[in-house]
Parts: sequence; structure tokens; C-alpha cells
Amino acid sequence: MSLERSSILVVDDDPGVLDTICRCLELDGYPVLRAKSLGEARKLVAERDVLLTLADINLGHGESGLDLLAELSQRARPVDVIIMTANSDVQSVVEALKRGAYDYLTKPFRFEVLRAAVQRCVERNRFQEKALLLDQLEARRLADEENLEQFLVSMATVIDAKSRFTARHSTRVSELSRLLAEALGFEEPHCELIALGGRLHDIGKIGTPDAILDKPGPLTADEYAIMKLHPAVGDDLIAPIKSLSALRPIIRWHHESLDGMGYPDGIPGDRVPIEAWIVKVADYWEAITAHRPYRAPMPLERAVRTLRAEAGVRIPADVVETFLQAIQGVPIALPQPSPAQAAQPAPATPPAAERALGETV
Ligand SMILES: [Fe+2]
Ligand SMILES: [Fe+2]
Repeated sequence: MSLERSSILVVDDDPGVLDTICRCLELDGYPVLRAKSLGEARKLVAERDVLLTLADINLGHGESGLDLLAELSQRARPVDVIIMTANSDVQSVVEALKRGAYDYLTKPFRFEVLRAAVQRCVERNRFQEKALLLDQLEARRLADEENLEQFLVSMATVIDAKSRFTARHSTRVSELSRLLAEALGFEEPHCELIALGGRLHDIGKIGTPDAILDKPGPLTADEYAIMKLHPAVGDDLIAPIKSLSALRPIIRWHHESLDGMGYPDGIPGDRVPIEAWIVKVADYWEAITAHRPYRAPMPLERAVRTLRAEAGVRIPADVVETFLQAIQGVPIALPQPSPAQAAQPAPATPPAAERALGETV
């Protein structure tokens, strides 16, 4: 759809007046359409791209420019109308303005007056067209960013699937992050943001070689150094996406530490925002309670002890304690069974681990 509408339609039943007005406007460079009756005006509006209409109120034969004004103002894209009237017709002017006329000209008028009124209207129209175009571009940008966000979430799933060991890692971190955010009393939009941060926290692993991601044993020092690049890679990846800027601290700092010995920046713990601590706890818990083909998930009591050992050392103690409270009785937080165990029918009584969680925490 073109946003440019350039013709000016002049409607007057007096051929002399019509011709004079049209010539004046043509001298100013406007493309002009002329009509002597409502019928001709309606036909031109239907067929041509009309920016502005100058309409006489009294068109003879019982026709009125006010009728055209009513029709043009009700269109999906209204056309501005400047009403022209005789000096004595004050009541009609009031009526025209009430019905939405952009302006009125009292006959006889000087060309400068006509020119000023038309220029004002054309400028306003151009401004509105530009504003509309900017709105459309902004809507397109937001839609593109939303698509990009969806793409990144899909990419996080792909990264998890790249390794035999981390299937559903990001999904589970996201769910645990939301649980903790809610327990800490964050409002829903903030919880949603933190959950998305959990979903995308390892997005930088797209740059980590599969041989390292999928290695079944401990990493060498060199491999570990490469693995440690992923928070900064993830941050660089989302940096150009304006709508995800709030996630950058989560993605970049989810491996930082209270004692300043974390990575990638080794910043002091008091500079790490709460959102990053939330995802760090969720990430840590997910890792120790997840099933891996080369090791069983840590039993619940040991996982609780292990996480508590981090409290006040590498992770703020209050965040750890709130997390341990929040996960009581929550199935997603329990040590994850192997795929073979998961295929077994569910036990009739609550799992021992779930009972132990209630007793331990
Ligand atoms: Fe990570
Ligand atoms: Fe992770």
C-alpha cells in the first residue's frame, strides 16, 4: 500500500470559480482533480487517490458539500475536507466544523489564504503519513524481534539436544528459575523474563564444539577454557536484540561467584544481579539432580547438602534457602530418573525422594 496521496479534488458548481481555484493550485505544483457535482466528486474519490478535497457547501440542485464531507470522513482512510462557503453562511460553517471539516474558506478569498490552508493540510497529512509509516516499521521490528526470540528458544533446544547428556537442561532450568523468582516475590512479567533467561542462559554454547559438549568424562584444562567462553558468546549473540537486553546480565553472569572467582568476568558478588543468581541456582541444581548416562543423579539429601555448601561461599545464602524451600514437593525439582526408569509405570505411593525432600529441607 502506498502512503502517498497527492491529488487535490476541487468541487464547485460554478465553472469560473472552479477553474480559478484549480489553476491557482496547479501553479503551486499540486495535481488537481475537478468536479462540478457530488456525482462527479464521488466518482473521482472512488477512482483516484485523493489527499484533500475543497468543497463548496452550496452545489446547486439541492446538493451540499456537507454530504460529501460526511461520506469522506467515514471512509476507512478519511480524506480531509476544506469547506468553501459564502460570507453569510455562518451556520453551515459551524455545522461543517462539527462534522469534522479540516478548515473553511469564506468566499471570496485571496489566493494566499487558499494556499496557506492547503499547505497546512498537506503538511499535516505528510506528518500523519510519516507517523503511520514509523508505527508500521516499529510493529514490523517488534514482530521480527518476537520471531528472533522464538528462534533463539528453538536454538536452545537444539543446543541441549546436541549433547546426549543435557536433554531438557534449559527447559528444566527455566522452570526452576521461575519457581524461585515466584518464591522471591517477583511480579509475573519479571518471573516470565527470568524464566526466559533460564531458557536461553546457555545459548552461547552454540559456539562450543560438540566434542566438548558431548564428552562423557571430565574436561581437560584447554577444553574447560573453551567451555567457559559460552556466557560471553551468548551475551554477544543477544546484544543486538533490543527486546532481550534485560537478559544480558543473566546470560553473561550465570557462572559468576560470590567470592569473585567465577567467569567470564570474575566480578565481585555484589555486582551480580539477583536475576543471575536465580538462574545460577537453578542451573546448579539442574546439573546435580539430572540423570547422565555416565552417572546417576545425586540423591536428594546429598543434592541439598551440596547446594547448601555453596551458600554464602559462591551463591548468596538467602537465595539458596529460598530455593530449597520453594522446591519442596515439586516434581520437576526431584532427581531425574533415567529414560528407562521414566518408562516404568508410576508408583502407587509418593516416591521416597519426594518424602525425603519434605523431611530434609
Ligand atoms: Fe552455563
Ligand atoms: Fe546451564
